[in-house]
Amino acid sequence: MTEDGGAAELLARHKEALPSWLLLYYDEPIELARGEGVRVWDTAGKEYLDFFGGIVTTISGHVVPRLVEALTEQANKIAHTSTVYLIKPMVELAERMTGLAPIDPPTKAFFVGSGTEAVEAALLFATTWRRSNEIIALRHSYHGRSFGAVGITGNKGWSATSFSPLNVSYALTPYCYRCPLGLTYPDCGVACAEDLRNVIETTTTGEPAAMIAEPIQGVGGFITPPEEYFQIVKSILDEFEIPFIADEVQTGFGRTGEAFWGSEAYGVRPDAMVCAKGLGNGMAIGAVVGRAEMVDSLRANSISTFGGNPLASTYALANLDHIEENDLQQNAYKMGDYLYRGLKDLEDHFEAVGEVRGKGLMLGVELVEDGESKDPSPEAAGKVMEICKERGLLLGKGGLYGNVLRISPPLSITEDDAARAVETLEVAFGELGK
Ligand SMILES: Cc1ncc(COP(=O)(O)O)c(C=O)c1O
Repeated sequence: MTEDGGAAELLARHKEALPSWLLLYYDEPIELARGEGVRVWDTAGKEYLDFFGGIVTTISGHVVPRLVEALTEQANKIAHTSTVYLIKPMVELAERMTGLAPIDPPTKAFFVGSGTEAVEAALLFATTWRRSNEIIALRHSYHGRSFGAVGITGNKGWSATSFSPLNVSYALTPYCYRCPLGLTYPDCGVACAEDLRNVIETTTTGEPAAMIAEPIQGVGGFITPPEEYFQIVKSILDEFEIPFIADEVQTGFGRTGEAFWGSEAYGVRPDAMVCAKGLGNGMAIGAVVGRAEMVDSLRANSISTFGGNPLASTYALANLDHIEENDLQQNAYKMGDYLYRGLKDLEDHFEAVGEVRGKGLMLGVELVEDGESKDPSPEAAGKVMEICKERGLLLGKGGLYGNVLRISPPLSITEDDAARAVETLEVAFGELGK
């Protein structure tokens, strides 16, 4: 065996040593060896435009010099201490995050190692604070892979177990393209949001611990609610005094262009929010920011060995500086608009393109058998992914039926990058019928 037998050999070893359920993209999976900005290279030297950003994560791009410098400088001082000691970058990051969060003060932040763990912590805080294990989640949701998080997942493809520490009610999702009520927006009066009152009154004690929702559902296929949806939901929650947890793991840090947070883009203020992905631009860090009385409600001791460690916190602080100083949110808004318009044109030209949706640089393209039946076409999504890969464009995939392309590049992309992505997708859609 050669020292480096390439991707095929690595795939064989991967299959032998790692779990069978660990999802890999592409008929011939690739290893990305190097990155720079929005570009990545595989081990064979092929260059790609990275329009999935490591699952909606590399928000500032790959190998950003100031981030590398911040990390190296901290690594040369100390990498790990744990939360039983004071950690200055963690305190600074907590101050920064509580300042940024659209939550009524006083607020507190708690740091962990991933989005899943942030969701777990938020569930622990809310259920303890409210002395209830009832949670309202949305159908089509995804909040992580752990026992508690799977319990609030509204998608059979990601629900590994029916066992759960929680008593969950699933509210209707605002999926206008496939309206669960068979209605059409705006004549529907956003009836899916109004239905929440009935969910509370008929499937809970009336005093659940919280409702958790993604402002735009990520794994669900970038399901983008109508503008009024969350305001209606929040007003019903307020009526019953039920806290709202926004899962901003994918929508935070300017991704949606219009605002720094997805919940802000929908004009609502949550009681807590969970973040990860873009916060660390690839560094393993997650956070819960919430009303102080919720976060402080735990009566037992708690620690986090890795949460908020000096390396991750320093890197996240440098990343926030980079996002703000380069106004990446504004670029996401502009480039998102450019991409959206380009993709909408394709929606008009190709039968397989059912719907283009999203905000900022979080855009979904739902592929169907034809515009009339709207039958989902996971085959078309798979084929487009392969063609785009061949042509040097990496995309993501999602949706209940696996038929939604997910476009979520670093927020630093240029108009040239966006134009190239649209051109590549046009070629791929054109090849679908062949
Ligand atoms: C909305 C949302 N919440 C939570 C998670 C879990 O994050 P992680 O994979 O970092 O555990 C994800 C991951 O995709 C997500 O999209």
